[in-house]
Amino acid sequence: MKRLSLMSNLLVLSLLIFVVPKLNAKDKHSNDDAEFSRILTGLKISPVRLNLKGKNLALVGLGSYIVNAQGACNDCHTNPPYAEGHDPFQGQPEKVNADNFLAGGVMFGPFISRNITPDADGLPAGLTFAQFRKTLRTGVDPDQLHPQISPLLQVMPWPVYGKMKDHDLRAIYEYLRSIPHAEPGAPAPTAARQAQ
Ligand code: HEC
Repeated sequence: MKRLSLMSNLLVLSLLIFVVPKLNAKDKHSNDDAEFSRILTGLKISPVRLNLKGKNLALVGLGSYIVNAQGACNDCHTNPPYAEGHDPFQGQPEKVNADNFLAGGVMFGPFISRNITPDADGLPAGLTFAQFRKTLRTGVDPDQLHPQISPLLQVMPWPVYGKMKDHDLRAIYEYLRSIPHAEPGAPAPTAARQAQ
């Protein structure tokens, strides 16, 4: 019995020494592959033209993947979210509203989504990366637009986004830095639906 457990300990030890590092190496490799294919997909699916000057292309692509294939930022931050005749919820062929992309102006009761496109200084939502990261991690509204209700952003899923790795938050920020400045369109479809 003792002998057996010694054998099995040796077996586990040798697995740890010889096999696990190899598995890790393989994982690392496939992680790199997965990130690379996300970057390519991200660059392909961005609904707007990107200003890549002085930007990190890999971060922009990954950011576009997170924003456009995972984060659903468009659904809340673009008004209206889809181009006319291209609303997938009406069974139409999907096309995002590129003219007002991520410019905010969608109403959720008393809360209105913000413009997260770059301002005149090129800062998304007027925020530096440090401010942007803090906003997504803590939910504290950097503009304090409704202190009478709460100092925290409402509706906005910051409790979820705030769990992302710094690398992913930086990628989102780099993507938002590279999209064109835009203004919200009207009327707000969410508000219109609510009024009906
Ligand atoms: C479910 C709807 C919803 C989704 C999805 C959403 N947001 Fe928001 N976001 C909002 C609303 C609403 C506000 C304003 C909340 C308030 O006034 O309390 C906001 C505010 C923000 C702010 C604060 C901006 C400022 O100027 O202070 C940032 C930054 C932001 N969102 C980024 C994002 C990003 C990036 C994504 C996608 C990864 C995203 N949001 C997805 C609804 C949403």
